[in-house]
Amino acid sequence: MQSLLKELVEENRHWVKHGKVANYIPELGKMDPNKLGIVVVDTGGKVYRAGDYDISFTAQSMSKPLVLLLALMDNGEEIVFSKVGKEPTGDPFNSIRKLETLKPPKPLNPMINAGAIAVTSLIKGKDNEEKFERILNLFRKISKNPNLDINKDVYLSEKRTGDRNRAIAYFLKDVNIIEGDAEEILDLYFKQCSIEVTCEDIANIGMFLANQGMDMELGETLIPKYYTQIVKTFMVTCGMYDASGEFAINVGIPAKSGVSGGIMCAVPNRMGIGVIGPALDSKGNSIAGVKVLEGLSKKLMLSIF
Ligand code: DON
Repeated sequence: MQSLLKELVEENRHWVKHGKVANYIPELGKMDPNKLGIVVVDTGGKVYRAGDYDISFTAQSMSKPLVLLLALMDNGEEIVFSKVGKEPTGDPFNSIRKLETLKPPKPLNPMINAGAIAVTSLIKGKDNEEKFERILNLFRKISKNPNLDINKDVYLSEKRTGDRNRAIAYFLKDVNIIEGDAEEILDLYFKQCSIEVTCEDIANIGMFLANQGMDMELGETLIPKYYTQIVKTFMVTCGMYDASGEFAINVGIPAKSGVSGGIMCAVPNRMGIGVIGPALDSKGNSIAGVKVLEGLSKKLMLSIF
């Protein structure tokens, strides 16, 4: 496995030249587009690392599956899906255009920004501080990294510039999908996106999902299996945004990307994978990261289909 990962990183590194680092969040624009790294964690807890696996990056949209898990545990399925749908959009992740025409006016799924903002609004806690603590604690627990924390620069950078998300949140407030203060909900959303992780952290989260919500070391179910199934299904149908269909054919595993260039994958009952490659394709997914995953999936026959 170790040499396979190394080969795949070397073979696919040239793709970074064809992508671009996200710069609509100014602080993300500082990432090095040439980086490419991967970590695989298997069911036996063995860890394999290759390339620039040791760099840190923010979770961005990879936070969406985790916050959905917490919202499901806090509220149950019925309430969550009264605020957000279960269908792919075929639109970019930050698109606004369908929101006004939907009846009822709920965002189509929890993996696009609009849906994720609706989900974030459901997190329980006496104030934003407590709500964020709860999100961060879940991240720490299932990534097995008690030191995870927020990257303040990225958080403040997005808070300053996130006007498209602001527009989405205010619209959702107007149509009663979110309740409470739109700015507070956005603040929590920007914070969850700014939690700083490594490939190993997201590979562990992927492994946790692959393992149906069970902590392997403790032998304890931390999250109901059914909720992890819901989340993995969204990762397949919407996790790579409007490239989810292509990714399902070429790679075939539940995955969630973030604009930082990370991709978090759960191969059911087999492994968790974390990839970083900040140079993105036109849909906002790591261009070289997707190629590495294609190679890995073909070699190890990882497709679930
Ligand atoms: O809300 C945003 O635009 C970012 N914080 C997260 C978007 C994202 O990661 C999309 N991923 N490909």
